[in-house]
Amino acid sequence: MSLGLEVKTVSLDNLADLRALDQDSFPEPWSRSLWKLELSRPNRIYLGAFKGAELIGFIGGLLAHTDFHITTVATKKSHRCSGVGSFLLLRMLKEVDALCDGIETITLEVRASNKPAQGLYRKFGFAPVGLRRGYYQADNEDAIVMTIENLQGRFLADRLSEIELELSLAVLEM
Ligand SMILES: CC(C)(COP(=O)(O)OP(=O)(O)OC[C@H]1O[C@@H](n2cnc3c(N)ncnc32)[C@H](O)[C@@H]1OP(=O)(O)O)[C@@H](O)C(=O)NCCC(=O)NCCS
Repeated sequence: MSLGLEVKTVSLDNLADLRALDQDSFPEPWSRSLWKLELSRPNRIYLGAFKGAELIGFIGGLLAHTDFHITTVATKKSHRCSGVGSFLLLRMLKEVDALCDGIETITLEVRASNKPAQGLYRKFGFAPVGLRRGYYQADNEDAIVMTIENLQGRFLADRLSEIELELSLAVLEM
């Protein structure tokens, strides 16, 4: 399965492209120093989706005790709604499922108004569990907290297999 994409770990070598995509995707993009820190800290996974040499998406997350927290995900505007976000989240969750023994939950925050992102997360089995009022300081918007729990069960692996199959079929239909 490829979607014509290559997903691989990103590093400081990709800093300029990551920042450009971040600035184009979020009202509060990370600073250069935060990106540098995140890309060099332990217990992080940062993946990029590449079409040839072009970075068209990224996803990041960090391990904190028994929780894996998705910190960011974005697809380049010109490539949205074609499976790139799903492909990135699939790869990230497969890495978490395979590498991180003892993880109990995967969590994230999402803007209350961000329906595309909530749709992406629901597709993978994330469910809303709480609200952080005024979490986004620039405009005081609330964050919905979403999680996948009970990772020790078979649900996550089964759901990832289903989504992988769906993405493969979508590629065959293109
Ligand atoms: C959220 C985002 C990463 C989705 O990326 P994408 O590559 O377009 O996602 P996909 O094409 O894989 O779509 C995955 C699912 O998301 C949902 N979705 C995506 N775009 C949507 C839209 N415009 N409206 C409603 N749902 C949408 C759907 O459930 C879709 O599943 P389906 O195709 O099986 O119906 C992208 O919209 C983005 O970069 N947004 C700006 C940054 C951002 O808000 N990141 C999330 C921070 S919490």
